[in-house]
Amino acid sequence: MNALLLAGGLGTRLRPLTEQMPKPMALVANRPWLEHLVIHLKNQGIDHFVFAVKHYQELIRNHFGDGSRWGVSIRYALEPTLLGTAGAIKNAEDMLDERFIVVNADIVHEIQLLPLLEYHRQHGGLVTIGLTEVEDPTQYGVVEQDEHGRILRFVEKPRMEEAPSCKVNAGIYVMERQSLSYIPTNQAVSIERETFPLLIRETASVYGKVITGYWKDMGTKDRYRIIHWDILNRRFALPLSAQEKGQGIWVGDGCEIASGALLVPPVLIGNRVRIGERSIIGPYAVIGDDCLLGRNVRCSETIMWNRCKIGDAMHLNNCIFGNGLELGPSQILHGAVVNRMEVMRA
Ligand code: GDD
Ligand code: MG
Repeated sequence: MNALLLAGGLGTRLRPLTEQMPKPMALVANRPWLEHLVIHLKNQGIDHFVFAVKHYQELIRNHFGDGSRWGVSIRYALEPTLLGTAGAIKNAEDMLDERFIVVNADIVHEIQLLPLLEYHRQHGGLVTIGLTEVEDPTQYGVVEQDEHGRILRFVEKPRMEEAPSCKVNAGIYVMERQSLSYIPTNQAVSIERETFPLLIRETASVYGKVITGYWKDMGTKDRYRIIHWDILNRRFALPLSAQEKGQGIWVGDGCEIASGALLVPPVLIGNRVRIGERSIIGPYAVIGDDCLLGRNVRCSETIMWNRCKIGDAMHLNNCIFGNGLELGPSQILHGAVVNRMEVMRA
């Protein structure tokens, strides 16, 4: 059984961070989320992947290649134009097994596949949708089910008063190949707005199973931040590549942290990071690989990606910086979300 990862969308709500990259390549705890996802699924026995790509697909290909570095096989289904969530799956049909998994690659989660697969087997549906419960379902695909778990209605992003429940599409499906015959070829088709409603109407063979464990769509800046704070306080126990030097203080390899600098937990420092005298980093800071932070820097509730250079006496709070940002010295920034290209244009 292989897994198709939907990784071709535009990621508009995470701009400017995703201005020049597909959203699933956004770093989460210093690694592209897509890489965490491949590792997580591989640990559960998936070793054949198809990536459905379009927007900045070369970045994904350059990073993953054929997947051998991760001990998996990765093939790419490139869309000529964006085909939508169902069109992208149809476009990859030749590469998919009789039964396969589809995952929205921008969902940050620790989903256990086994219970979902077991449920799918028992119910024998064409599709089983992983569900999660949220307070505000209006940003998601919302379902109504009967007492056997069969989905009677699937409504994408309804208004609050029209939402049939608070159970929403978690963006992970187990699908039978046969279900693909309901998707037209070479056309933009949405699985949420077209294919699921059609399958429900015509086959009554779409089921939903509530999944457990951490789950969040990283698609907005607020949620992107929350995911990081959840990782740092271990509400979400994502494996980290750095060593835990003290409680809640993770530091990568080859770092030079001045003896007078202070790391306030929880904090995650990448590889080869340099931090100058009297700087105070944390609480809630994620510093990417090869970042250079000067002296007297204050940095809290901030996420910075790789190769950022932060000058002396910079005060940062609640910021998100893309790769290679250079700032300072002596500025106070609160709530800034900046990537390098923006600064170059300014
Ligand atoms: N290849 C390809 N082609 N991928 C696409 C396309 C496309 O045309 N359109 C979207 N994707 C990918 C995105 O990159 C993302 O990983 C995933 O499909 C979902 O698209 P989003 O644009 O992030 O959708 P959403 O977050 O608004 O809603 C979806 O996810 C929710 C869960 O977070 C829907 O599936 C909802 O029903 C669901 O509740
Ligand atoms: Mg999304």
